[in-house]
Amino acid sequence: MKLSLEKGFITPHPVLIIGTYGADGRPDAMNAAWGGQIGGSQISISLSNTHLTTDNIKLNREFTVAFATADQLAACDYVGLVSGAKVSDKLDRCGFTVTKSDKVNAPVIDQLPVTIECRVIELQDEFNETRVVAEIVGLKADEEVVTDGKVDISKLGLVVYDTVGKCYRAVGDVAGGAWNIGRKFD
Ligand SMILES: Cc1cc2nc3c(=O)[nH]c(=O)nc-3n(C[C@H](O)[C@H](O)[C@H](O)COP(=O)(O)O)c2cc1C
Repeated sequence: MKLSLEKGFITPHPVLIIGTYGADGRPDAMNAAWGGQIGGSQISISLSNTHLTTDNIKLNREFTVAFATADQLAACDYVGLVSGAKVSDKLDRCGFTVTKSDKVNAPVIDQLPVTIECRVIELQDEFNETRVVAEIVGLKADEEVVTDGKVDISKLGLVVYDTVGKCYRAVGDVAGGAWNIGRKFD
């Protein structure tokens, strides 16, 4: 029997580590789960207006998004726990170092293997939140996680956010070929 429960949700979510620079040039990073890709080249992320990251994105209109990985999980969680507005050495504390992107005015976190570079298309401000819609203008990937010129998810140690269990889960084995396994019903 199917139960009718109280609240709906979508899960899992990606674990996105957003990199920005402040007005003083100081790099910041935060963890965001309320985001995803829209079509082929755009993303949307919902950010609270209380975050330094939100201020930095409004200022620069450019940012990076790295995928959290299992081997950097504590650091990825930490940047979601404290604000760069209050902890000025936030990135140092969790062992993150950065290199400025050559495509956008935003930091690429050296310890995370895959990062997309993003430019704001639209900022929608409502209910003390900013919904950021941005274009993906570049991609940086460590050569160790690239196979035949493409990011190889099996090499990343990618994690996702379980919104029900409030935990990170490792991305596992391939379950079947997309646009393909259903062909058996043709
Ligand atoms: C798993 C996880 C997911 C989060 N997702 C979001 C999110 O999607 N949007 C948001 O505004 N804050 C989110 N946060 C909270 C911010 O990452 C957190 O408040 C952070 O300290 C903000 O840092 P900043 O002020 O340096 O930008 C999340 C935190 C965690 C741990």
